Parts: sequence; structure tokens; C-alpha cells
Amino acid sequence: MLFKSALAGATMLASAVLGTSVASATTVGFSQIGSESGWRAAETTVTKKEAEKRGIDLKFADAQQKQENQIKAIRSFIAQGVDAILVAPVVETGWDSVLEEAKDAEIPVILLDRTIKASDDLYLTAVTSDQVHEGKVAGNWLVEAVGNKDCNIVELQGTTGSSPAIARKKGFEEAIAGSENLEIIRSQTGDFTRTKGKEVMESFLKAEDGGKNICALYAHNDDMALGAIQAIKEAGLKPGEDILVVSIDAVPDIFKALAAGEANATVELTPNMAGPAFDILEAYLADGTTPEKWIQTESKLFTQADDPMAVYEEKKDLGY
Ligand code: AHR
Repeated sequence: MLFKSALAGATMLASAVLGTSVASATTVGFSQIGSESGWRAAETTVTKKEAEKRGIDLKFADAQQKQENQIKAIRSFIAQGVDAILVAPVVETGWDSVLEEAKDAEIPVILLDRTIKASDDLYLTAVTSDQVHEGKVAGNWLVEAVGNKDCNIVELQGTTGSSPAIARKKGFEEAIAGSENLEIIRSQTGDFTRTKGKEVMESFLKAEDGGKNICALYAHNDDMALGAIQAIKEAGLKPGEDILVVSIDAVPDIFKALAAGEANATVELTPNMAGPAFDILEAYLADGTTPEKWIQTESKLFTQADDPMAVYEEKKDLGY
């Protein structure tokens, strides 16, 4: 494959003459899922900032949670002849054709924060967390927190068919599998949003004796947990005490909830997927350096013991 060596060579020559960086001539299309969560908003902000910092011309398309919009955006980026495409894929399947088209056009594609089910020669690399591991970290925390006590768990899943919803469920189930005293009694999608998290939690509470039968909530992201916390309070129970709350993302608002004793634990997902992606792209466009197929970001556990208000202060202006 010619990839972009000719372009890189021409860009470097232009850079030498004009005294600009390689990236200043680079145009990158970014197909973002939407803005379902605080975490997603931060990823958008960080990606735009990282592009600006590097002099990259970023073409941004918000898919409003629809895969068909993402596919249209990718086709439009191909037609515009961008140098590379970033995609945060809303669901795991259905990408083969459009990625073949990008491959035929010799445009490298980088997956951000979610994975897909397709041949890995259709994309340059994926910058994501280990989403099974995130679920395990959350599950292990709960196993330890409840000890020998019987614990009925309700689960708020992310968007149906998305890699984090599938993998975070799997990881959590694996973590609690050895503990007979822990059982998931209800599990439903809240689509990664605060509004649906609240709505679904209300239905769980109603179905489970006003919540008296629920010991813990596991939410696949903080936004759903925050919506659920509201529902728990409105039901007259104390989130964080009557119902333990563990979730994923580490958005600023969950640290306020941790500080208030209304949430118990969160697993951090960095919103900076674009920094590593642009580094990889720059090397690839310059001399064809091929990255690993998976660039893994960290997953750190935070609890009420981690000075949540200090973390909130650090995070609050980062674009969440
Ligand atoms: O793919 C990452 C997930 O997508 C985040 O955990 C969630 O908040 C989101 O919208």
C-alpha cells in the first residue's frame, strides 16, 4: 500500500520551505458518537484541543448517536480526501463496507475509545481502555466492599451493541462469579445517559420493594449512576449507604457524589484518546511507522478515600 508516503514527503518538503510542522498540512476527520455523557463531551473537547495544539485541521461530525450518521460522515471525509479519520464507533458491528472504502482510498482510520468486530487490517490502531478489565475492577471493588453479606445488584448497561456495554458487563460478571452471595437481579440499558439512568433506576426501585431489596447498583458509566442516585434519593433511600453505587468514567460530578457519600467507587477512563492517536498518526504519515493494533489506556479505581473534592477541582475545567 502506498499509504501516505507521497503526501508525507511533500508535506515535509513544504514544511522545510515554509518552516511549519508536518501536522500543519494534515486534515483529520473525526466522527464522534454524540454527547450522551460528560465523558463524551470531554473527549470531544480534548480532541479539538489536541488537534489545535498540533496545527491539525480537524473536521468534526457529531452523529447524534446514530451509526448511519457515522457512516455518512466517514464517506464524506473520504470524498474530501482527508489524511486520516478518527472514529468513536457507537456499536461494534456494521463497519466493514465503509472501512473497506477508507482502505481503498488509502486513508488510515484510528478507532477511539470503543472497539469493533471487523478484521483489524481495516484500521491502523485502536486507542481504548481494556473495557473487560474496567468491569472487573468495579466488580472486585464490590466483592470486597460487601464481604460475606448477601447482595442483590442492579445493573445499568451502556448502549446496546456497544463495546463498553458488552465488555463491562462481561468483566463485572467475571469478577463476581466466585461469590455466591452476590447476584445481579436486574439489568437493563440506560444508554449511557443521565436521564435514562434515572428512568430505569426508578423502574428497578419500584419492582424491588421501593429499593429495599437492592444492595448495590453497578452502572456502566457515571452519568447513568448520577441519574440513578437522584432516583434513589427521590425514593427516600440513601445512595452510597442503603444502595452502594459503583460506576465507570471518573467524571467531575461523580467526585462530588463521592465526597457527599452518595457514590462509592468509579473507574477512571481518560478522555484523552486523541493525544496518543495523533502521535501515532504523525509517525505513520511521516515515515510509515506502524503502531500496535491496540493502544491501551489506564483504568484507575477511585473511592471515597481518595480525596474526591481535590480530584473534582483537578477535573472540573477539563471540558466534561
Ligand atoms: O466508550 C466510552 C463510554 O462511552 C464512556 O464510558 C461513556 O460515558 C460513553 O459515552
